[in-house]
Amino acid sequence: ASLVVAALVLGYLLGSIPFGLILTRFAGLGDIRSIGSGNIGATNVLRTGNKKLAAATLIGDALKGTVAVLVAGHLWGPEAAIFAGLGAFLGHIFSIWLRFKGGKGVATYLGVLIGLAWPIALLFAVVWIAVAYISRYSSLAALVASVVVPIVLFAIGDIPKGLLFAVLSLILIVKHRANIGRLLGGTESRIGQKG
Ligand code: G3P
Repeated sequence: ASLVVAALVLGYLLGSIPFGLILTRFAGLGDIRSIGSGNIGATNVLRTGNKKLAAATLIGDALKGTVAVLVAGHLWGPEAAIFAGLGAFLGHIFSIWLRFKGGKGVATYLGVLIGLAWPIALLFAVVWIAVAYISRYSSLAALVASVVVPIVLFAIGDIPKGLLFAVLSLILIVKHRANIGRLLGGTESRIGQKG
């Protein structure tokens, strides 16, 4: 039980690091939370027009999830890796540095998935890219890809990871409720589009 708590805390602290906020602030772009959708993620960083910063945000927010999973797995075993993934995702969304606010979890979801089941992460990326290419909606791409992941994990009989990603996908979808409203209303902004 103490290993579970240790894994959750390790993941949570790593996941809490808001790369989008830190990188845009260092680049002198002000507070990302007052730009575009107000989100701290890579999609919104792209709305500043700085593609390298958006890519760095994506990599940072993903890598913290991967690192949490791999470190916990190495130190405490495969069960701890799953709880570290949960912790990292929750850390990103309810960051200790942002008064328990945070992002929508897409990049960190991907990072955790890379650490726990990289072939499924590849599938997530392919689905995301396909939907984004066709629709130009980052949010829709994330929503579709996140629905696919737990279904595939359950289908291949990986129940622990299926359960983890069912929970993460549920939270991800709830965090996208404003996006879902805009998608249904036809007012969601497309990738790279300001505002
Ligand atoms: O990763 C978040 C993305 O799916 C939507 O971001 O800024 O358009 O709300 P945003």
